[in-house]
Amino acid sequence: MKHQQNKSRNWKEYYQKLNGTPPRPLLLKALEMMGEDLEEERLAVDLGSGVGQDSLALLERDWRVMAVDNDPNAFDMMLKNLPEKYFDRFIYFCGSFENAYWGSAHLINASYSLPFCPEEYRETVWRRIRVSLFPGGWFVGTFFGINDDWKTLDLKTKEEVEHMFRGFDIKYWLEEEKDMRTATSTDLKHWHIFHVIAQKAF
Ligand SMILES: C[S@@+](CC[C@H](N)C(=O)[O-])C[C@H]1O[C@@H](n2cnc3c(N)ncnc32)[C@H](O)[C@@H]1O
Repeated sequence: MKHQQNKSRNWKEYYQKLNGTPPRPLLLKALEMMGEDLEEERLAVDLGSGVGQDSLALLERDWRVMAVDNDPNAFDMMLKNLPEKYFDRFIYFCGSFENAYWGSAHLINASYSLPFCPEEYRETVWRRIRVSLFPGGWFVGTFFGINDDWKTLDLKTKEEVEHMFRGFDIKYWLEEEKDMRTATSTDLKHWHIFHVIAQKAF
């Protein structure tokens, strides 16, 4: 079966499956590495936030959060789950990565989202991510490798991902290849994923 993988992808079923699930372990690992000692207000940007499990985890840990996703259904679900006490530290932008603007950030989280960025915007979006992080700021996210089954997405070699992080200290790196179901299908898909936690140089 061909998996849906393009811009017209319908995420509704995915959101229903992910609704109420815990934050991504990679984000929790990064937060542990960073330490919980927040001396100042810190801003996190959650790119392709989906139903917001990662945004919520950040809000629970006193971060200010900007969530970006171009699917309104994502925010409908996210806002239903979001306790009112977080509203003054949370903003969202319902639009594409390439149209989103944010100030300097201490953390950018992009969990399973950047590979969906249309080709013509990838460079601009990545440049904005790099530039917007404060010196010492952190990036947490996943990229898809060239052996991944979803061939129309942004698939990268190990060297390409490494190159994206020049000027960063890579704190955690895991390259994974496995056959596993997607969140919304019983068919096996070949996954080739790079999980990266990196800190921008001071
Ligand atoms: C696989 S989901 C990941 C959601 C969430 N980060 C997670 O880990 O479950 C990818 C998300 O990225 C969003 N997305 C895809 N392309 C996008 C784009 N160009 N701009 C903004 N959001 C986008 C989708 O709407 C979807 O919610």
